[in-house]
Amino acid sequence: MCGIIGYLGNKKALEILLDGLEKLEYRGYDSCGLVIFNSSQNYYLQKTVGSTKALREKIKSLFEGNWGIAHTRWATHGGVTDFNAHPHYDCRQEIFVVHNGIIENFKEIKQRLLEKGHKFSSETDTEVFAHLVEDYLKLEKSLEEAVKKAIKEIEGTFAFLVVSKNEPEKIIGIKKSSPLILGVGKNEFLLASDPTPISFLTKNVVYLDDYDMVILKKDGFQIFSLKENKYKKPKINSIDWEIKTEQNNIFEHYMLKEIFEEAKAFGETIKDKIQEKKVIFEELNGLKIERINKIILTGCGTAYYACLYGKYLFEDYLEKETRAEIASELRYENYSYDKKTLFICISQSGETIDTLEALKIAKEKGAITVGIINVPGSSMTRIVDYLILTKAGPELAVASTKAFISQLSILYLLAFYFAKNKNPDYLYEFLSLKNKIEEMLAKKEEIESLAKNLIDFKNFYYLGRKYEYPIALEGALKLKEIAYVHAEGYPAGEMKHGPIALIDKDFPTIVLAPQDSLFEKSISNLEEIKARKGKVVLISDSEKDFEVYSQIKIPQTKEEFYPFLITPLIHLFAYFFAKHLKREIDRPRNLAKSVTVE
Ligand code: F6R
Repeated sequence: MCGIIGYLGNKKALEILLDGLEKLEYRGYDSCGLVIFNSSQNYYLQKTVGSTKALREKIKSLFEGNWGIAHTRWATHGGVTDFNAHPHYDCRQEIFVVHNGIIENFKEIKQRLLEKGHKFSSETDTEVFAHLVEDYLKLEKSLEEAVKKAIKEIEGTFAFLVVSKNEPEKIIGIKKSSPLILGVGKNEFLLASDPTPISFLTKNVVYLDDYDMVILKKDGFQIFSLKENKYKKPKINSIDWEIKTEQNNIFEHYMLKEIFEEAKAFGETIKDKIQEKKVIFEELNGLKIERINKIILTGCGTAYYACLYGKYLFEDYLEKETRAEIASELRYENYSYDKKTLFICISQSGETIDTLEALKIAKEKGAITVGIINVPGSSMTRIVDYLILTKAGPELAVASTKAFISQLSILYLLAFYFAKNKNPDYLYEFLSLKNKIEEMLAKKEEIESLAKNLIDFKNFYYLGRKYEYPIALEGALKLKEIAYVHAEGYPAGEMKHGPIALIDKDFPTIVLAPQDSLFEKSISNLEEIKARKGKVVLISDSEKDFEVYSQIKIPQTKEEFYPFLITPLIHLFAYFFAKHLKREIDRPRNLAKSVTVE
């Protein structure tokens, strides 16, 4: 949430920062801005409500500076206005700041600064930091010394970039719980919230730890750890991550492109992990399940639904107590971790603050931590004891799709890997899922016409039992977030306990009922809905005609594999529903891809 970027080098900062903002925009896109400086200490500041496109249109100047900072915003404190867009500055417009995170104690700091005579020009929490640095600069000899002092007053989460008009060719970056990465090029440097805008200039990056402060100058950089109170030797890593931002001309939206990459994401993620009827996890370095007496899986949103799938799977395959918990709740629970607890966090971005904080707590309390993460080098990848990367590739649409399939596939392989009694033939069936996912994607037209036919309905239920329950939740979430249509996922058996009261001819239900061990029970629930004149869309491999509004046929597979086949269908359904409602599919309102604030 919110993307920040800074550039210092020989090139024109304006283009680099605008390009960088475009690549960071999926993190938040309600407003944006930048400030650029040249060697004569002149600067150019521009901000606007809207996306980088709006900023480009507003920029009339061809200002030629070679250092500056920029920001794309997802509003937390203060409405979406030009004034609240970053960069923010001090009373004299000499110190400029961009920020990702939340300053929790900003009201107290602001009050104190107002009493001292500071003049504020926005309603944001961020602006207080510019004024704090201004105050400390009266006492300290350099920007970095002032930042060091000011940061001690900040409670909350942050990645800040700070520049001063009076200290040319210098950018200070500092972080706590929000991501910040330094790109080290040839005579040029970038600081950014994620590797995407950096990878176009250099593959060499330094991942900053909490309370690391980067002092970036034309001739190099230093990293001072405020935690250790000393300069650190930086570790330069190489990134293997490149995003092709040009819109694929076959697909109208990134979301559709990414749904169509679900089979490939599955294939890439499991590649090299199945060898001669065995599952190999080199990443686990011989970790033995016997060391573990309970398992806890956590994540947020779609990643949490993957956790729920993992819970059913682990309970079926391993004899271990397993829980799936929403990370934003888990982090405030008094869960008892110990060194026999296996803690698995699942995240596409590897930056989601609630998952990250839950991970830190589990690790601190001694649990064995595993991460199933898509973005290499992200914060979680650097904390977990064992890292399993999903290989879905960059996901640009805000709604997560192909990463979800990759997460399910790693969970299955983990269950199989740790299981004592396993039938190697299951792996043949598992491998066949790639083609079956393709087969599901080929139902595009059928799903589109279903979505069109149902377009006037304002409410939907998605029902499933056991393995299909997380997929019901996923289907409902997708419809809510990209089509802005009310939908709820329920365990089918729960309908009678209340929700069925809403059923009438205007409230359709999508029933996920493959022929698994709970098929008959799901069909009873379907009949109960029909009996109340509810429209039913059934997704099943059954040949029988259930006389429902629509029946979508899927191939047969093993009970625990049906989610792989149903997921592409419910993703396509939400996509086409949103498309025919003319929604902003890749950038749904109020959302951002990487949720780095609470
Ligand atoms: C839904 C969606 C979100 C994310 C959630 C977690 O389509 O994209 O619910 O799944 O914000 O994000 P990650 O996986 O990056 O931790």
